[in-house]
Parts: sequence; structure tokens; C-alpha cells
Amino acid sequence: MSNDFKRYLITSALPYANGPVHIGHLAGVYIPSDIYTRYLRLRGRDVISVCGSDEHGVPITIKAKKEGITPQQVVDRYHAIIKDSFEKLGISFDIYSRTTSPTHAKTASDFFRKLYDEGKFVEQTTEQFYDEEAKSFLADRYITGTCPKCGAEGAYGDQCEVCGSTLSPDELVNPRSTLSGATPVKRETKHWYLPLDKYESMLREWILEGHKEWKSNVYGQCKSWLDGGLLPRAVSRDLEWGIPVPVEGAEGKVLYVWFDAPIGYISATKDLTPDWEKYWKSEDTKLVHFIGKDNIVFHCIVFPSMLKAHGDYILPENVPSNEFLNLEGRKISTSKNWAVWLHEYLVDFPGKEDVLRYALCATAPETKDNDFTWKDYQARNNNELVAVLGNFVNRALVLTKKYYDGEVPACGELADYDRDTIAELSEIKASLESNIENYRFREALKDAMNFARIGNKYLADSEPWKLIKTDAERVKTILNIALQITANIAIAIEPFMPFSAAKILNMLACEKFGWERLGAMDLLAAGHHIGEPSLLFEKIEDEAIQKQLDRLEEIAKQNAAAEVKAEPQKAECSFDDFQKMDIRVSTILEAEKLPKTKKLLKLTIDTGIDKRTIVSGIAEHFTPEELVGQQVLVLVNLAPRDFRGITSQGMILMAEDATGALRLVQPNEKTNNGAMVG
Ligand code: 2FM
Ligand code: ZN
Repeated sequence: MSNDFKRYLITSALPYANGPVHIGHLAGVYIPSDIYTRYLRLRGRDVISVCGSDEHGVPITIKAKKEGITPQQVVDRYHAIIKDSFEKLGISFDIYSRTTSPTHAKTASDFFRKLYDEGKFVEQTTEQFYDEEAKSFLADRYITGTCPKCGAEGAYGDQCEVCGSTLSPDELVNPRSTLSGATPVKRETKHWYLPLDKYESMLREWILEGHKEWKSNVYGQCKSWLDGGLLPRAVSRDLEWGIPVPVEGAEGKVLYVWFDAPIGYISATKDLTPDWEKYWKSEDTKLVHFIGKDNIVFHCIVFPSMLKAHGDYILPENVPSNEFLNLEGRKISTSKNWAVWLHEYLVDFPGKEDVLRYALCATAPETKDNDFTWKDYQARNNNELVAVLGNFVNRALVLTKKYYDGEVPACGELADYDRDTIAELSEIKASLESNIENYRFREALKDAMNFARIGNKYLADSEPWKLIKTDAERVKTILNIALQITANIAIAIEPFMPFSAAKILNMLACEKFGWERLGAMDLLAAGHHIGEPSLLFEKIEDEAIQKQLDRLEEIAKQNAAAEVKAEPQKAECSFDDFQKMDIRVSTILEAEKLPKTKKLLKLTIDTGIDKRTIVSGIAEHFTPEELVGQQVLVLVNLAPRDFRGITSQGMILMAEDATGALRLVQPNEKTNNGAMVG
């Protein structure tokens, strides 16, 4: 490899344990990091890959409050789901830890304490928003109000989710605390700040001079932060959930989640190996952080400054960061449920872990935001995995079974075409390595697939199924080469599709090869017996895709309904006007469709005053059966009206939601008919 390090430490952004992992996380961070790690392992490098759940931070406490459970219960639930789904997708972390672990509490606490003792922080007292009723300082997320930019209600103190503007709580119109509804006031509070300005020149030299090779999105963001000038950043917060600030007089204060989370990489390594220091404190280690673009400043500016302040840690050699993946043309959103969740995918598409890995790597947002669509996923499976990779492997194995009873035939004298094919394979190998080592995983995946494309072309051009009748000796060489290519594929695709690589090896009845064997044409000895061929991939039918699209359509509808603004209020009415309306609790006794009408139902109702007939235009919303027996509210003194010769005496009250669906307005408990509403 170009740059020679003795060992590799790969970190992947710790996902927040306030929800499951979705395809955006996978394409942006975890699939690239796993490809890189698996590649290094195959090359026999000393490599460890660490990750874990990020279990502190305000979103977790908000989730807990919403669900009426403790933050610990929230993180326990999602940590288990995330860990399990990563494992099932073959994301091969050496450890998947968590930031509520005792090791982490001590590591983060000690880290802070050392910086504190050495005077690396500055203390500042500032005014923060405070809820006098709840007796609590308020994180930005805990303050809501009207967005000053778009006028939407319910904007947060840090962001408006309707127009996407970044906000500060001061900008909100009519701010309120989500804890009590009170109007927040400003109150003084003391916090510890890391003076990033003191690290600016170190960062400039290290990144802007020393790492011009970083991806342009990462380098560009760092440059604009540095050119804008760095300011001290608070590393503590007034919150209950988190790691307590380990100094006297810091009651009620915890470490800021972005101070504690990256230290999670260190504590995970400690939990993995007693030799952790060799990975973190030796210049022989190549440290690589895989992250999403919203994490760049923390991994390139803040964490490196923390590591420098501590004094004995290495800095990352690279911070490959991807852009964002959209889903069917819209931004993925956890709160709007606009996502493909990994744990659900694993249930809906059992045995298709590699298909997702493949589709996500192929559409990874490496240089710009990209779109995941289910149609593209289906096409990649059917046209690439089934038609190219699966087809080639299957043909090579089935022909070997058929002609030689599963015994690898000997390779005879090579034809020019054989030599050209073999030479082409070794060119791809070089490109594949260079692409992986430079974090161009989409290109690397194309290279890996090219082994199969070349194999397919080789078989199609040399037509062993025809030659077998005329030149049986030549067929032996052709199939020997086809089988060697198959074994090569098992090496080349392993970082991307480990399950399929293992399946190929199983079908070939051979052990895993090291990366150095890629390109070799003697992976399988003549006379070796292969195992039973079976299909590597199967076609994905339209029904399975439609099911996913239907699910998304339903979610889109719900979201649209939630976003709809209520109709403006009608003109004022006097109390006397209201008093004129006589609304009674009533029970529907009978219901029947009026013949030759689409919308009308004839209802017999018991108003408590009398039994009467009401004609209602709700036949498209309710069946007669579901209405009989229901209690409803009826405006009983509405002037009678005739419908198709039937007199309707009153009106049933309904609520129409944003999707146009009608709901009955009902007393929340059984009430006597005739009870007055008002
Ligand atoms: O953005 C996120 O999802 C954060 N939980 C990432 C943390 S990365 C690291 F610093 F731990
Ligand atoms: Zn807005």
C-alpha cells in the first residue's frame, strides 16, 4: 500500500440511540467503513474497527419524555436494535460499544479532568434560557415557537423543520418551554469552554497544508471554518442526562454530548483490547474517521483540538465523509418516518443483505447528495447481481458439474485471448486497490463487478457449450480459467458483499483466500472437487417493490396531512347565536343506503327527544353496518330539508381531516341520548 502504517484504527460515527439505523446512515458511513476495514483485514493488516451507540444528548431525553420512559430505557431499546441490525448486515465492527458504559464514563470524565487540571479550558458565565416553572435550563431543542423565517408554528430553538432554517432560540417568535409551556427567561450559568482559537494555527497547518488530499467536501468545510475564525466552544451543558462534569461546583452539569461522543471511540477501543494505547498513541497507526457531512466540524476541528489539548493522542490521517442520501427524491427524516429502516429491511428481504450493501454502495453519495429509489434497487439486483454476477458464477459451476462431474479440469496451453483476459484482470486489481485506498468505493465496486463482467464475456466469446462437441481439450482450459475467475470474484467482492463471497467459496468448496491472491490463476488446483452450485441471487419481483412504495406513499400522505394548516377561524359569533343551536347526544339505530345515490345514507336516530330520520351525505365514508349503534352528536333544531322525497330532520356532526377523511364526533364515554352539548 502506498503509505505504510503498521496498524489501522477505523472509527465509524457513533449513531444516536434515539432511533434505528436507516439507509442514509448505511450509505454515508457504515458500508464505506466496513468495505475499507474488510479490505485491510483481507490484506492481513493489523486493523481494528470500532463503533458504538451515542447515548447522551438532548434528542434522547426528548424521545424519553415523549414516550413517558427514562432516557436509559430509550437507549437500551435502540442500542439493542442497532447492534443487532449491524451484525445481521455483516457490518464487521471489532467492537460495538456504548457511551453509557462504565469504561466510557471513566474515560470521558478523566479526559475532561486532565484538561481541566492543566488549565486547558476557559470558564465563562453567560445567560441561557431557563424555565422557572420546571426549574431547569433549556437546551435549544426544548424551546419552541413561531419560525421567524416562514411563520410555521412549532419551530425549535435550533432549527425550523418546516423551512429548514438554522435558528437560535433568541430568534423564535413567542418562545415557550416544551417542559412546562412557560415563557423562558434568561439566567446566568457557568460553563467550561475549549478555546478552539488557540488550536487554529495547528489545525491550519495540519489540514490546510498537510492534508490537501482529503475529499474536497471535507477540506472545503474545514477551510471555511478556519477562514471564518474559531471561537471557544462550550463543552458542558445544564442537563441531567449525560456524564457529570467531574469538578466541584458543577452540580446539574454534564459533558456536552459532542465532547463525550468522540471519546467513545477511545473507550470502545479500551473495551476491545488492553493494547488500546498502541492504536491511539503511536504515530505508526493510521486513524481514519468515517462520518457523515454533518459531523465534519466535530471530527476535523473540535475532536482534534481535544486530542491535542490532551497531548498524547494521534490525529486522524483522513476523515472520509459522505454527503446525504435522499429517499425517492425527498430528504430522509427520522421524525417524519421517511426512511428505509435497516431492521425492517432485514425482515422484509431476508437473505438479501448483500443486495442492500451493493445497492447502497453503488448509489453512495460520495461527492454529492444522491437518491435511493426502490426501482433502482430492483434494477441493480435484477440487471447486475442476477444477470451479471450470479449468472457468470452459475454458468462456470454448472458447466463444470456437467462436463467434469464437479472436478476442476486442468489448464492446457493458453490462447492469446486467455492471456488478454488474465492481463485485464490484473489491471482491474490495481484499480480496485487504488479506489478503495482512496475512499472511492463506488468505483471500487465497479472494479469488483468487472471481474464478473469479464468472466461473462469470456464464456460468451469462447462458447464452451459449443466447443465441447468439437474441441473438448480446449473446453478444459476455458472452464479452468472460468473457475479461477470465480474464485477471484470471491476475493474481490468480499469487502462489498461478504455473504455472497462466502457462498461462492462454499460452492467452490475452498477456504478463504488472502487479498494477495487476487489475480492469481492457480487458486483452484486441477482435480479439486467443487461443491453444489446454487443461485447466488434471485430476481426481485415487482410486488415486493410495490409493497415498499405503497408504504412510503402512505407515510407521505400522513406527513402531508400533518403539515396541512387548519382553516382560518370563521367570523365571530355571539353567545346567543351559539345558544340557538340545540346539539344532542344521539344513537344511530338504523342505517341504509338510499337507492340510486352515491353519497346518501338514510339514518334512523334516537335523539332522546324522539326517533327521527336524518339523511346524511356520508355513504362514501362509512358503511351502514359500522354506523349502527354509534353514539353521535346531532344538531337537532336544524331546519328540515328534503332529499329525494325524504325529510331530513337534523345534522350529524363530523370532523374532516386534512386527507378529506370523515370522523364521527362522539362523546368519549357512553352518554344518555338527549344529553345537551354546549
Ligand atoms: O451525528 C450523529 O449521529 C452523532 N451521534 C455522531 C457522533 S460521532 C462521534 F463523535 F461519536
Ligand atoms: Zn421556518
